[in-house]
Amino acid sequence: MAFAVPRGYVDLADLAAARGVPASKYTQGLGVLQMSVADADEDPVTLATEAARRCLQAAGRSPSEIGLCIVGTETAVDHSKPIASYLHGLLGLPSACRVFETKHACFGGTAGLLNAIDWLAAGSARGRCALIVCTDIARYSVGSAGEPTQGAGAVAMLISENPRLVELEPGITGCFSQDVHDFWRPLYRKDALVDGQFSVQCYLDALTGAYAEWQRLSESDEPLVRTCYHVPYGKMARKAHQRRCQLDGMSEEAAEKSFAEQVEPSLRVPSQVGNIYTGSLYLALLSLLYHQATELAGKRIGLFSYGSGCAAEFFAGRVLPTAAAQIAQSAVDSTLANRQRLAIPVYEELRRNDASADQRPSELPSSAKIGAALSQADRSPRFSGIDTQERRIYTVA
Ligand SMILES: CC(C)(COP(=O)(O)OP(=O)(O)OC[C@H]1O[C@@H](n2cnc3c(N)ncnc32)[C@H](O)[C@@H]1OP(=O)(O)O)[C@@H](O)C(=O)NCCC(=O)NCCS
Repeated sequence: MAFAVPRGYVDLADLAAARGVPASKYTQGLGVLQMSVADADEDPVTLATEAARRCLQAAGRSPSEIGLCIVGTETAVDHSKPIASYLHGLLGLPSACRVFETKHACFGGTAGLLNAIDWLAAGSARGRCALIVCTDIARYSVGSAGEPTQGAGAVAMLISENPRLVELEPGITGCFSQDVHDFWRPLYRKDALVDGQFSVQCYLDALTGAYAEWQRLSESDEPLVRTCYHVPYGKMARKAHQRRCQLDGMSEEAAEKSFAEQVEPSLRVPSQVGNIYTGSLYLALLSLLYHQATELAGKRIGLFSYGSGCAAEFFAGRVLPTAAAQIAQSAVDSTLANRQRLAIPVYEELRRNDASADQRPSELPSSAKIGAALSQADRSPRFSGIDTQERRIYTVA
């Protein structure tokens, strides 16, 4: 696994001061300390490419070993051309590779991951790996209740028959779906609309259903020593764990203790990045492994994915003894430390420019190659703008 975030972030204490609310509402009430903010040359394609490039590098794998590439996103850059195709070009993936994009709000990455497991189980891999990339920019209107729960980033994962981090339990997942209007983004909007309190209720209802179904299907009584939840903001994962403890018949006091031990380590990295929609659950997993892989070796953990609309899935896996050495290569601290803190007026200016960012003419001629292969380059791509035929142009700085 590896992740990528934009260069800039907003500190939630700064945002609280600008919006006239106590900082504790955001930092404790929502459990968010910082949120990543994308600049005009950073988009879901550049974030996905950077996360995937780092993932291949950390695993010591070459693009030629990828037979399936699925990008989960709810921040598509085109109604037709998938981000997976841009990624195919930018990474230099082989032509004999199935590439596509999945959308189901924050569940899209999980849809890709579970699809990849089925692909392996069906024997389609023939020694190759699947590359799953979750990439999103979470935007709500400036000044809205959702504003402190924004974020931006990508998580890339390699799925293979010989995992090094977590061995998932194929075929044993608890699903829950229903048709609800808790969160939506009409085609003409860049920022999402949400019925915030209702979305919290839908998430908890979906967890209840998915967990019950997983318990019915699970063939093992071995306990889950940790659980990673979808993290739109840290408090949501806390509410989710409380609900699960309640379902397991635990007291409130025991649930609080359990949260500190079983969930808190997974929220440390997400609290510094904010909501990255499809990647949020996997950033929580990365955070958990980064902090505790050694002590968790051989232990069973749970994962809960939720996507508004809605679809949810609860599943489990086992942390492998090789996880600690592998996750140490994900450069978590340096990636976060290398970011730049944005003053609120700078962030607001970026948001004002959101609408026009996709339509600005590229500073490069339209003859510039779309998707110059990055395979041998150790550099991130940038979105340079569109050419005269409205094609997106990506360059390597
Ligand atoms: C999450 C969301 C609904 C919160 O909206 P809000 O109007 O700010 O909500 P609240 O007023 O309930 O405040 C949030 C929390 O901060 C707490 N709080 C308020 N002021 C506080 C303060 N000064 N210090 C500490 N906590 C404080 C509230 O008690 C509440 O905690 P609780 O949920 O445990 O009751 C909103 O940010 C949103 O719509 N986000 C996007 C949708 C989303 O992420 N949904 C999740 C499911 S997918």
